[in-house]
Amino acid sequence: MKVAVLKETKVPERRVALTPDVVKTLTKAGFKCGIETGAGEATGFYDAAYEQAGGIIFLDKAAMLADTDVLLKVNAPTIEEAQLLREGSAVISFLYAYTVPDLLDVLVQRNISAFAMDAVPRISRAQKMDALSSQANLAGYKSVLLGANALGKIFPLMMTAAGTITPARVLIFGAGVAGLQAVATAKRLGAVVEVTDVRAETKEQVESLGGRFLEVQSEGVQTEGGYAKEVSTEYLQKQKELISKHIAEADIVITTALVIGKKAPLLVTEEMVQSMRPGSVIVDMAVESGGNCALSEFNQTLVRHGVTIIGEANLPAMVSVNASELYAKNISTLLLHLADKDGFKWELDEDVTKGSMITHQGALVHQFTRDILAKTV
Ligand code: NAI
Repeated sequence: MKVAVLKETKVPERRVALTPDVVKTLTKAGFKCGIETGAGEATGFYDAAYEQAGGIIFLDKAAMLADTDVLLKVNAPTIEEAQLLREGSAVISFLYAYTVPDLLDVLVQRNISAFAMDAVPRISRAQKMDALSSQANLAGYKSVLLGANALGKIFPLMMTAAGTITPARVLIFGAGVAGLQAVATAKRLGAVVEVTDVRAETKEQVESLGGRFLEVQSEGVQTEGGYAKEVSTEYLQKQKELISKHIAEADIVITTALVIGKKAPLLVTEEMVQSMRPGSVIVDMAVESGGNCALSEFNQTLVRHGVTIIGEANLPAMVSVNASELYAKNISTLLLHLADKDGFKWELDEDVTKGSMITHQGALVHQFTRDILAKTV
């Protein structure tokens, strides 16, 4: 099996799909790893380290892709990259397939089997392959640091001869992977942390980390995979009433509310931003899916009504060393699950294969993606 790793071209991106350590593991398992020159440079993994680990450095991207069995990437391949891939080969990366119908057409036409890291089912057996969680965990941590950096206050209670500084108040929307790590990080720095989530099941987790859970009487919105369903307008209205007071008192608001496959719910209105104290900060982690805050903008930091609004869409890339290390473990575990040195196993009814396989043998095979695309036509 020949594996190829490209230098990521999305901006801003510093991560790389395989680290030298993981190249070593795959090489030992009998895989041949091709690495585009400079692929890991932005994060401190130089060509020489890959070579020492058994990787082969390619100066010519087209030549590498034409002779590979499986391309491993962080972000979805570009259409040009997909066109350079050998027909019948495979690709594994984050895809968010329903957002890239043109790319899917090329993958289907060229009979390329695509596996999406974002579609690996959240089941215990697949935890080591769960890149959404590994990256969201790091992003949740970084979101607190970005917020803290933009705030003209410290987090902890401090008693000094010149007076007492009260702790900062952090309000977090969504207690998924990113939200819970944000709770833990903000608590460690000494803030008072409040959290709201549509899934009442998260209350216990929030409290175990020292956060206070703001509970809206809920309708039982957890689906089988541990994700939230879309909630009713009445629910969002009740949530708005409960949260308004807490937003006005917050120094930092971090929003992570996500409903998979849908536009992010609008939770922080312009009116709410206006109600916040000048100098306070919002970090909208859901900015890439449309944003939880009405005023956030993709990859921008703005000041509106005196409030700094951070819409950084690639927080994992800001901690690219750890993000690449964890991602490389995730993607190589998936690869070793799907294939060995002699090729793919093609166990099409097996849960992880079925959950993550988007295109195969010239067809779009992923039901969830087909359903979403059918609705958007
Ligand atoms: P997750 O699915 O684990 O958590 C999302 C949480 O939001 C769930 O607990 C869900 O119940 C909750 N939620 C849904 N609707 C809500 C509502 N109306 N009010 C309150 N809570 C609600 O997702 P994860 O992995 O924690 O990611 C969270 C968000 O962060 C996603 O939007 C993801 O795309 C984004 N993200 C952003 C990054 C960045 O760099 N900006 C990096 C990684 C993730």
